[in-house]
Amino acid sequence: MSDFIHQYVPATNGSPWTLLLLHGTGGDERDLIPLGTELGNGAALLSPRGKTLENGMPRFFRRLAMGVFDIEDLKVRTDELAEFVTSSATRYAFDARRVVALGYSNGANIAASLLLRHPTILAGAVLLRPMVPFVPETKISLDQAPIWIGGGRRDPIVTPAQTLELVSMLQSSGAKVDVHWSANGHDLDQEELREAAKWIARIAAFPPPQ
Ligand code: MLT
Repeated sequence: MSDFIHQYVPATNGSPWTLLLLHGTGGDERDLIPLGTELGNGAALLSPRGKTLENGMPRFFRRLAMGVFDIEDLKVRTDELAEFVTSSATRYAFDARRVVALGYSNGANIAASLLLRHPTILAGAVLLRPMVPFVPETKISLDQAPIWIGGGRRDPIVTPAQTLELVSMLQSSGAKVDVHWSANGHDLDQEELREAAKWIARIAAFPPPQ
């Protein structure tokens, strides 16, 4: 079994949803708990810590340079994360069909990688400042998966062009993508978080995928 150091917070209000919280470079499993609590409408929170270290900073996969990913490592780490989500559903008794990722930066990139490599693990995703993690060799079917993307117009780390490349990849795989542009750079702003929260509340009203 592939385990991660993680935090799990059970659902409140009877929410049947779980948010998979995926932090950015240098973060850890505690980072996104407040954001998940604010945005999740009572959803359970599953928050793993990335297992690779870059100068002591946790990440979800190795990179060779800024924006240049170690694809072999990314694939292995993505598979481990998929396994962790599945085994956590059994361990904590949450509904494996109602897991939505909420990832920021490096966490958004591994969430995108999960969508592309294990399309059935996530029922949807909120990707904050994401880019294309890798280009799949075969056509992926995301079957209307709802995805909310938050890009930063002035982001020097993940440029708008890089985010748009992911948007078109996800759209051509059949996902239902909503894009929001913040006037900020890599840092998030309150207004986009409010919009993301509204979107999560909307998709939480959907019936679970069969
Ligand atoms: C990444 O490495 O995943 C992206 O460049 C974002 C980051 O973590 O800086």
